[in-house]
Amino acid sequence: MVRFVSIDIGNDAIKGFLGNLENRIYIPNVIAQANDREIVEMEKNPLNALHVEITSSALKNKNGSFTVGKLASKYPNNDELTPDQDKADSDQPIVMLLTTLAYDAVNHFPEEDGIIEATYYLSSGLPLDETKKGKAKYFRKKLKTAQHEVKFLKTPSLEGKVVHIKFEQILVNTEGFAAFVDLTTNRDGSIKNEELIGKTILINDIGGLSTDSAIITAESEVDNEYSNGIKRGVSTYFDNIIRKVYTKHKYTIKSRRTLVEIITNNDPEEQYHIWVDGNRVSIKEIIDEELYVLAKEEYKLIKDMWRNVPDIRLSYQIGGGSLILKPYLSKINQTDKNYPLRFVSEDDSIWMIARAYFKILLMYLQSKGVSIEAAATKV
Ligand SMILES: Nc1ncnc2c1ncn2[C@@H]1O[C@H](COP(=O)(O)OP(=O)(O)OP(=O)(O)O)[C@@H](O)[C@H]1O
Ligand SMILES: [Mg+2]
Repeated sequence: MVRFVSIDIGNDAIKGFLGNLENRIYIPNVIAQANDREIVEMEKNPLNALHVEITSSALKNKNGSFTVGKLASKYPNNDELTPDQDKADSDQPIVMLLTTLAYDAVNHFPEEDGIIEATYYLSSGLPLDETKKGKAKYFRKKLKTAQHEVKFLKTPSLEGKVVHIKFEQILVNTEGFAAFVDLTTNRDGSIKNEELIGKTILINDIGGLSTDSAIITAESEVDNEYSNGIKRGVSTYFDNIIRKVYTKHKYTIKSRRTLVEIITNNDPEEQYHIWVDGNRVSIKEIIDEELYVLAKEEYKLIKDMWRNVPDIRLSYQIGGGSLILKPYLSKINQTDKNYPLRFVSEDDSIWMIARAYFKILLMYLQSKGVSIEAAATKV
């Protein structure tokens, strides 16, 4: 028996499809070293209280115990990702990935003598700058040849379960190109948005710590010369805002995520506001100031792309960062080049890459003559 999954290992959060396109998983990309802990009575959902020991030759230290996701974000020593780390070289993406799969495995593979043996077809990917450097092969090999064991420690309802993870196949895609696949193919592999085919398209994926600018040629291939990735995203600007709000109002916004909620709140009473001693205080000026700086940088990137590749006909903005920057980018664009910039829905912005990885996996299986239903039930 095997399971088919796609995982987008985002710097901000893991997004995945497990088994099919209806079953999604989202886990904030935060880990903290933790050998032991008390299970809190209130913890019911294992996803919010993941605590694991991982033994894998893919990890630099071969073994470690971590809290993962929401639980880790409550730990003072949690690891914040910094822009200088490559996903292919770091341990954190491996910890996130294996924990996600182990969580899936306990519900889908049988347990024998206390051990769950799980085999996966995995479709994942790396940012453009890393695949350009040839990291995909290394990343794939690191996962495919290694033995991985995930033991659930103090995780409600999963404590003591041991999962052995093995990969039957691993596809390592390029994040930006994957988005193009999602834009142009339906779930059954047929073509959608036909008007995009045969045109040069720019796809900007503005993430937490990185921005990928993929140029897709008229032949539907990545333009390796001009496509580009930079280690810059919204997270560092969120940190600046949080610092400035503290300096000015002596009020601490708890996390980047809390700030995102303040910025995107649909209630005008709450949006751009904090409550200091019960009084409503606007922080819009600070937010505008910081995000405008980032938007200008991102716009400059778009301009560079259009200058280098004048054939670009459309630019899609995706990633959580594009949702945040949409008003600023649109405003700059209006007074500057008036490029045809397209934004996608909130849901698509976040899930597009993971969904693309799943579609790519389906196409791969189809090309190999593997039927997903048959393979999934074959023991
Ligand atoms: N629904 C949402 N609305 C607005 N912003 C969001 C939403 N969901 C997430 N974000 C924010 O957008 C930012 C980028 O999220 P995204 O999931 O695209 O990054 P990522 O894929 O994890 O990072 P990277 O692509 O750099 O690896 C994060 O700071 C996140 O908090
Ligand atoms: Mg991303």
